[in-house]
Amino acid sequence: MTGPVWVPTIDDTKVREGAYAAVFPMGLGVLLVRVGGDLFAIANKCAHMGCPLEGGKLEGHVLTCPCHDWRFDVRTGALLDAPELAVATFPLKVEDGKIHVRVGEE
Ligand code: FES
Repeated sequence: MTGPVWVPTIDDTKVREGAYAAVFPMGLGVLLVRVGGDLFAIANKCAHMGCPLEGGKLEGHVLTCPCHDWRFDVRTGALLDAPELAVATFPLKVEDGKIHVRVGEE
């Protein structure tokens, strides 16, 4: 990869309040999450054993992994019980009605 790039994904309207949608910018598994009107982008891969976080329960800003119930804050990616562990988060922006995710950061 040549460095960070903004990748258009799905329409802004496709991510409902209190819900998430899985996207694959440049083949990377990312969950777009909307809470309190704000959007967040986190890796769709648990920091424990790599299960997809898709299918997990979202309560407020907390997303629970469907495999073994590790809980992550979607704002930071941090594991609630041990914040030194985290899943990756990605910058995002909405342009022309589409959510763009920045991928390729070190
Ligand atoms: S893989 Fe997510 S909690 Fe184990």
